[in-house]
Amino acid sequence: MKTKGALIWEFNQPWSIEEIEIGDPVKDEVKIQMEASGMCHSDHHLVTGGIPMGGFPVLGGHEGAGIVTEVGPGVEDLAVGDHVVLSFIPSCGKCPSCQAGLRNLCDLGAGLLLGAAVSDGTFRIQARGQNVFPMTLLGTFSPYMVVHKSSVVKIDPSIPFEVACLVGCGVTTGYGSATRTADIRPGDDVAVIGIGGVGMAALQGAVNAGARRVFAVDPVEWKRDQALKFGATHVYPDVEAALMGIAEVTAGLMAKKVIVTVGELHGADVDAYVNLTAKGGTCVLTAIGSLLDTQVSLNLAMLTLMQKNLQGTIFGGGNPHYDIPQLLSMYQAGKLNLDDMITRQYKLEQINDGYQDMLDGKNIRGIIRYTDDDR
Ligand SMILES: NC(=O)c1ccc[n+]([C@@H]2O[C@H](COP(=O)([O-])OP(=O)(O)OC[C@H]3O[C@@H](n4cnc5c(N)ncnc54)[C@H](O)[C@@H]3O)[C@@H](O)[C@H]2O)c1
Ligand SMILES: [Zn+2]
Ligand SMILES: [Zn+2]
Repeated sequence: MKTKGALIWEFNQPWSIEEIEIGDPVKDEVKIQMEASGMCHSDHHLVTGGIPMGGFPVLGGHEGAGIVTEVGPGVEDLAVGDHVVLSFIPSCGKCPSCQAGLRNLCDLGAGLLLGAAVSDGTFRIQARGQNVFPMTLLGTFSPYMVVHKSSVVKIDPSIPFEVACLVGCGVTTGYGSATRTADIRPGDDVAVIGIGGVGMAALQGAVNAGARRVFAVDPVEWKRDQALKFGATHVYPDVEAALMGIAEVTAGLMAKKVIVTVGELHGADVDAYVNLTAKGGTCVLTAIGSLLDTQVSLNLAMLTLMQKNLQGTIFGGGNPHYDIPQLLSMYQAGKLNLDDMITRQYKLEQINDGYQDMLDGKNIRGIIRYTDDDR
């Protein structure tokens, strides 16, 4: 079918809304009418080149929710009319990683940036006669999608789409960074560095896990105020202020768990993040920098002698098929505040305004809400 999507054709250019052609679902694929898409910082890395896809043009978007409108052969667990969330990590349930319980490390993830469909290895989207590379095999910046079933998770239809889309990436990643990867225990002191969509979810994970103190760090004053409303106990404008403040509050012990959710991770800053971490503690790097960045500043002796852990995480260490419905049921039970994480809603045509607002610190999360105008 012909529809439209937000594409980039070269680095550091604005998103371009234009016609795309999407193939019909083949074996193991479903077609989805998109209702909402979160605007995660990772799509901005596509623009800067921090995350280079296999080629251009790139169709952005990896945090979405919609309604199944067609199912291909071989799809048994999804039906027309189902409300679904797209997980930015496909999870097949069968590969060695999935079998080992590491569903966020599914072997299908190897093709995440390469653009070729899981189903048959072909390119299913074209624009201006060229193959399109969809972000993480999805491309939620389009009112329609055709995707492999391993990226699709059925949800309760009573959940608003604008809320549901957030658990396709940011919320599940942030919450899991706190509760799964950092394994926050009751009484831990926790620092969250960077209060965007991922950081605010990490903060909520820390609060729910029973953190004693939650230190939130962000240069934007409004975000620090929001962090306090969401349960932070102390806020700081930058890591230097946090180093001094946390040292004072904890009598030099520092934070048992540190979760780094800044927009762009730089190797030069890692030592400061580890300095915020208590002896025996864990510093979780959730933020992403340039894929080409291999230089890290780190005091190795202090890492060893203070027995600290420096830990990466993807999708918060979670299982899409378990965590997505689980977090949405916590939302329904009033245990997870997703409504107040949605700061602004945009039309697809306003995507560049939305990303500028993100960079200007105006949004916890901005989302695209599709309407019939977009279709
Ligand atoms: N590991 C994963 O699976 C995964 C998944 C999703 C997103 N991410 C990454 O997580 C990061 C956060 O994503 P997001 O969508 O929440 O971004 P965002 O832009 O919404 O939020 C980033 C926040 O960090 C703040 N910030 C920037 N520099 C800072 C600094 N030096 N100190 C303290 N705060 C700082 C900004 O003011 C902003 O509030 C990005 O790098 C994104 O690519 C990783
Ligand atoms: Zn994301
Ligand atoms: Zn798998």
